[in-house]
Amino acid sequence: MNATPEAARAILRANDRGGYTVPTAGLYPYQWNWDSAFSALGWMTFDEPRAWRELTRLFEGQWPDGMVPHIVFHRWNGDYFPGPEVWRTRHDPPTSGITQPAVLATAVRRCWEGAKNRPLAKANAAALYPRLLAWHRWWAAARDPEQTGLVAMLHPWESGMDNSPAWDEAFARVRPEPVSAIRRTDTGHVDPSMRPSEDFYKRVIALVDLYAGLDWEPARLWRETPFKIADLAINSILHRANRDLLALAERFGSASERDEIAARLNLSAQAIERLWSGQAGIYYSFDLMAGESIPAATSAGFLPAWAGVARREQLAAMSKTLDRWRAALGYLVPSTSPEDARFEPRRYWRGPVWAVVNFMIGQGFAECGAVETAQCIRDDTAALISHAGFCEYFDPRNGEGLGGGDFSWTAAVALAWNLLGPAD
Ligand code: DGY
Repeated sequence: MNATPEAARAILRANDRGGYTVPTAGLYPYQWNWDSAFSALGWMTFDEPRAWRELTRLFEGQWPDGMVPHIVFHRWNGDYFPGPEVWRTRHDPPTSGITQPAVLATAVRRCWEGAKNRPLAKANAAALYPRLLAWHRWWAAARDPEQTGLVAMLHPWESGMDNSPAWDEAFARVRPEPVSAIRRTDTGHVDPSMRPSEDFYKRVIALVDLYAGLDWEPARLWRETPFKIADLAINSILHRANRDLLALAERFGSASERDEIAARLNLSAQAIERLWSGQAGIYYSFDLMAGESIPAATSAGFLPAWAGVARREQLAAMSKTLDRWRAALGYLVPSTSPEDARFEPRRYWRGPVWAVVNFMIGQGFAECGAVETAQCIRDDTAALISHAGFCEYFDPRNGEGLGGGDFSWTAAVALAWNLLGPAD
């Protein structure tokens, strides 16, 4: 497989649609929120102006209340489901009505700190800082109105880990009775056995219909939703992003903004600590409707290392869990535990390995000083990409590449994490 730095750069260039990078041609033909944050890190390794452009273009979709949507349909072509006619939001350019994990502030900080063109970096970071702050304020106000320290997702697509078994039970409470017609395009691009089920689509679209009927008004969604999860990926990534926003605020913000971000960090660090399961050696998400912990071990459960809130004993216990999973499978980090009866090694977020999640877990462990585990995750990611190429995800048993091909965030992470060596 020709997994060289030049091949990775060629994927980003080929997926460039004029200042924004589609996750992959065909399957995801618009600008996705967290995909773009990772793509920017890839662009940053060889084209700084283009990295800043990626981030700026995403904010063309930002709503007046601060929300940054999960998809921006810059030029709608009718080639994706659900499109703007299903979302029924009021934004121009059209957008979805939900958000995605908040990687952006982390990407902006990395671009700011790694920039060689200082005037360009200063102009862009200064312009992006208030928009990031507005988004993080939206998270706190719209998704944690009771100030518990944990924000909620109201739709599985907000987690980015769409069909994770972690919310099977909670999602079963959503009635599979959409009003909108379901016209899937994804299964025309990828084998249905690697994609979410028909039943999943009925429920995700039923939620979109419900929220569109509530005019996407955050307080009404909060009151009327049947689905409210404190997801570990969303909360860990947002905690990390608030640390990075605080660093940006040192340069671009006011003292009261810094106090506000620091207070939020204090609250979320304590709240994430409550999600630790010493018995399982991993963190668990929390079902806010049922008022109970969700005993499902998934890759999201290691992300408190990326947040920087995991203590030494927690890192050691998580390393043991990862060792066990690796011994059972071959490659880290499967999106679902191989010890879970719902583990499906080839189906999207129910088993396969995702390079971006490995990047966050691996970097998190490295930053916390758990270097052996970090190295193992990095080596596995490099091996997967060098054998199978820049695929959307990988079978954790044999490394087979799955899902969409020529995937932007896989290429971007390979560049940003320097996985490919000085091959050209
Ligand atoms: C999809 O279409 O599968 C996306 O993951 C939704 O964001």
